[in-house]
Amino acid sequence: MLHSHFILLLGLAAACLADDYRWPSPRYDHLEALLYEGRRSDGSSLSSIVHPCRPRPDTNASIAAEWLRFAFHDMSTHDVTDGSGGLDGSIVYELSREENFGAGFTSTLSDFEVYPNKYVSRADVIAIGAIFGVSTCGGPIIPFRGGRVDAWKAGPSGVPEPQQDLQTHKDMFTRQGFTTSEMIQLVACGHTMGGVRSTFFPALVPPGPDPLTPKIVNFDTTTEFDNVVVTQYLDGTTQNPLVVDSNKTMVSDLRIFSADSNDTMRSMSSAESFTSTCQNMLERMINVVPHGVVLTNEITLLPAKVHDVQLTFEREKFVFKAAFRLLQALNTPVNKQRTVKILWCDRHGNNKDCKGNTRTSMPASTFEEDPNLSPVTQSQGYSFINYNFVIPVDASASISKFWFEVDENDGKGATSYKNSGDGYFVEQDQILFVPTLSRTALVHNSTLERRGGGSPITGLVKQYTLVAAVRDGSNPSRVYMDVLDVAISGFPFPLNTTIDLQLNTSLTPTQGYSFYSGIIADTGFQLTVDIHNIAEDGTKYTEDFKQTTDLDNTPYVAPTNVTNTGKSPASSAWRLMDDLHIARLTVGTALIVGAMLGTLL
Ligand code: HEM
Ligand SMILES: *[C@@H]1O[C@H](CO)[C@@H](O)[C@H](O)[C@H]1NC(C)=O
Ligand SMILES: *[C@@H]1O[C@H](CO)[C@@H](O)[C@H](O)[C@H]1NC(C)=O
Ligand SMILES: *[C@@H]1O[C@H](CO)[C@@H](O)[C@H](O)[C@H]1NC(C)=O
Ligand SMILES: *[C@@H]1O[C@H](CO)[C@@H](O)[C@H](O)[C@H]1NC(C)=O
Ligand SMILES: *[C@@H]1O[C@H](CO)[C@@H](O)[C@H](O)[C@H]1NC(C)=O
Ligand SMILES: *[C@@H]1O[C@H](CO)[C@@H](O)[C@H](O)[C@H]1NC(C)=O
Ligand SMILES: *[C@@H]1O[C@H](CO)[C@@H](O)[C@H](O)[C@H]1NC(C)=O
Repeated sequence: MLHSHFILLLGLAAACLADDYRWPSPRYDHLEALLYEGRRSDGSSLSSIVHPCRPRPDTNASIAAEWLRFAFHDMSTHDVTDGSGGLDGSIVYELSREENFGAGFTSTLSDFEVYPNKYVSRADVIAIGAIFGVSTCGGPIIPFRGGRVDAWKAGPSGVPEPQQDLQTHKDMFTRQGFTTSEMIQLVACGHTMGGVRSTFFPALVPPGPDPLTPKIVNFDTTTEFDNVVVTQYLDGTTQNPLVVDSNKTMVSDLRIFSADSNDTMRSMSSAESFTSTCQNMLERMINVVPHGVVLTNEITLLPAKVHDVQLTFEREKFVFKAAFRLLQALNTPVNKQRTVKILWCDRHGNNKDCKGNTRTSMPASTFEEDPNLSPVTQSQGYSFINYNFVIPVDASASISKFWFEVDENDGKGATSYKNSGDGYFVEQDQILFVPTLSRTALVHNSTLERRGGGSPITGLVKQYTLVAAVRDGSNPSRVYMDVLDVAISGFPFPLNTTIDLQLNTSLTPTQGYSFYSGIIADTGFQLTVDIHNIAEDGTKYTEDFKQTTDLDNTPYVAPTNVTNTGKSPASSAWRLMDDLHIARLTVGTALIVGAMLGTLL
């Protein structure tokens, strides 16, 4: 019963999206993955840091509150009159200011540091952090648009502080584009989680016996995102230091909440009105961006998603890899009778474009996600199941397009997933990234030739030898890669440069491909490359946005009919599908490497 109901829902969702979305839409795909899977494509999980509504292990501070406050402080220097400032990630350069002081900010910065890349800006990560924080603690799902553009230097100051008077606060919110009533709403929506710390406001919260361990007095008696901050204020039971402190200079929440004779507070005192008001106002808050920045449409959950598509060589085999992600309603078992298969057409030869046979294959593995993957997906009532395909392909035939068929084997026939059209097209096979032949090593900078822009690299750096396969016949006039890493500790500058790849004769040509390689050094956390082949006839072929995690160790997995439901995938090739533990380990590793580099610099 549940099952057929679910299929109906999927059908509806698919119909709504049909006109808007086509694969590949790389920015959409990567924003969607971070929001709904909570992680980068190598598995490093952002959401698991905060979800489910976790306290910081060392201080018991609310991580969700720290993330929400971080977004507010980044946004709150916006000036509507000249369009400057807004959610632009400039806060990472502003943490030494009095108005942004404290461990909540520095911890949040290191939580976010490894996530930005070409398609997901640092400011988008900050916005997603606020969305995760609110939803994981029981608040509304704030609609998300991406496309924020990062600043690479500090902006003006101007974040409100509690000792300032009401007129100053009204003026600041007017500058940011909010009325007095909206100011009241925003402050109430912010001050429903977290509280005031002894370490930064010892006059408001007296320190405990150990002055280094913060004592925290919460704004209300619940840790959840709820209307209790409002009801306790209205009924006079609140312990919010910014309302009840005896030093009347410091009670900014009292001044703000009562600025319109408590009308706004009364209007948002029910659970429903609090939730809908905050959903609206926090959406507006995260969408305050500098003039000229154009946000994407809302990033909605894709009911069926193709991801991690790659044509490459693994152990001398030419393989096509693709993963197909379907929704699974929470608390319902996956239909054990379901079969999923991939179908594809040759790119070259007699069978070109399915003139003869259509080829087909079964998944190499199946992986059900942990329902805790993302608080947003979880509160929408879904989890995911992934079907991972690893197909040995004849290189002379290659592949032009593919699609999927899902049969629930319930007598209703199979459903085809064809990218709302003809199928998923493999754009080109003239230049391919080959992770299994690529390598990384930690080396001292004295052994390196410094390439690209930015400050000199000092101490230990990660050196990547990246290998691409070039199809014979294109006779490239140039093979090169655009290299980008924006996730560098402290965000001093992006690594953003171009490296030429040379024919590498120590790698034996095979199956109509020759290998090219190039070397790049990086101190960041997320190096990605776009690899280009300019053919003799001038055509430019591009392999876009290849990740460089998991090099050296991406073994070939023979396709089998075995389904590994509920277990970690056997292959590290599918490490990105792995469970949250591994994901957190990956984050840990990145941070350890970062810390190591930091120490040695
Ligand atoms: C006049 C405006 C505001 C003032 C003066 C103000 C002031 C403060 C102060 C003094 C703290 C305590 C910080 C600490 O001890 O670590 C705090 C915490 C917090 N603020 Fe505000 N705030 C304002 C507006 C907002 C807004 C609009 C939001 C978000 C929508 C927000 C979100 C938060 C959150 C979530 C915390 C708790 C942080 C934590 O527990 O780590 N604030 N605020
Ligand atoms: C955090 O909270 C737990 C449970 O309430 C408590 O046992 C622990 O001592 C607290 N830690 C700190 C650093 O306050
Ligand atoms: C109240 O707080 C203000 C701002 O921090 C401070 O300057 C003032 O001395 C305080 N007053 C009292 C009586 O503690
Ligand atoms: C607003 O509510 C607060 C807290 O209950 C109360 O102290 C204050 O007198 C109220 N102000 C007005 C104008 O009603
Ligand atoms: C290597 O590091 C040293 C300091 O350890 C620095 O002075 C030098 O500029 C660095 N060299 C390059 C090529 O980045
Ligand atoms: C990297 O460089 C390209 C080309 O110069 C530029 O368009 C792009 O904005 C740069 N990206 C970043 C993050 O600096
Ligand atoms: C050629 O490839 C080998 C094997 O990956 C690598 O060790 C070597 O550094 C590469 N040569 C160049 C010039 O990149
Ligand atoms: C795998 O499935 C195919 C098609 O369903 C079947 O023909 C084949 O015998 C199966 N192979 C194994 C090893 O079970």
